[in-house]
Amino acid sequence: MITIKSRREFAKMARAGAAVAATHAEIREAIRPGVSLLELDEMGAKVIAAHGCTPSFLGYLGYPANLCLSPNDVIVHGIPSDYRLEEGDILSVDAGAIFEGFHGDAAFTTGVGEISADAQRLIEVTEEAMWAGIREIRKGRRLGDIGAAVHAAGTEAGYGVVEEYVGHGIGREMHEEPQVPNYGTPGKGLRLKTGMALCIEPMFNLGGRHTRVDGDGWTVRTEDGSISAHWEHTVALTPDGPQVLTAADEPVPVEFEQARAQG
Ligand code: MF3
Ligand code: CO
Repeated sequence: MITIKSRREFAKMARAGAAVAATHAEIREAIRPGVSLLELDEMGAKVIAAHGCTPSFLGYLGYPANLCLSPNDVIVHGIPSDYRLEEGDILSVDAGAIFEGFHGDAAFTTGVGEISADAQRLIEVTEEAMWAGIREIRKGRRLGDIGAAVHAAGTEAGYGVVEEYVGHGIGREMHEEPQVPNYGTPGKGLRLKTGMALCIEPMFNLGGRHTRVDGDGWTVRTEDGSISAHWEHTVALTPDGPQVLTAADEPVPVEFEQARAQG
């Protein structure tokens, strides 16, 4: 795994993260009954390019699109299709961007029009679990602290916590060591250090935790057909503490960071 070695590298990660956050904002606005997943994918490509970034998913191990769009029982890695969203659907939107060789990666889940109370609660609990994991990203904490916090939030709510897919280190590659599972034992595992950047990404199912993959080799679904939510942020442990790089309300202008680096 890489560690972020300088303010300059951190600023590049922040630029990639800002592009991802902007993509989320634009897609969130566009989500409504009738819009197709391919239309959303096209919008994502435009926003990423407008931020001077390239989409990290396109071509990754042969992945054929800019975004992962995962409706209803799709957990992750849904390939955008001509499917048009319908009232009552839920949709996970996962985006990745590269700025001058550095990556940002984040996902959110939202409802289309009016959704069931069960679906709404699943989305909210999954987001809260992500933040519970992010709160453990502090110097001296361990990977097991993150996983245990995420897992507890899911199981306490009665959800199936997906184990086959995990969070990850991020930096010069989208997926770097270490793996960051959504389960763990407090006080165990790799100790967190300044300079690390991690993606925290709980995937919770309304039903059981088991998964299956479609014939396309990508689309991951719940085995029991229940709906699933996925949230993710890229978080860097900087000399000033943890920074959520893919959150829209925490912009980090690269010019400011560069000026600060020069003293
Ligand atoms: N964003 C996903 C993750 O968090 C990766 C998607 S890879 C793709 O790990 F190829 F499917 F796009
Ligand atoms: Co990720």
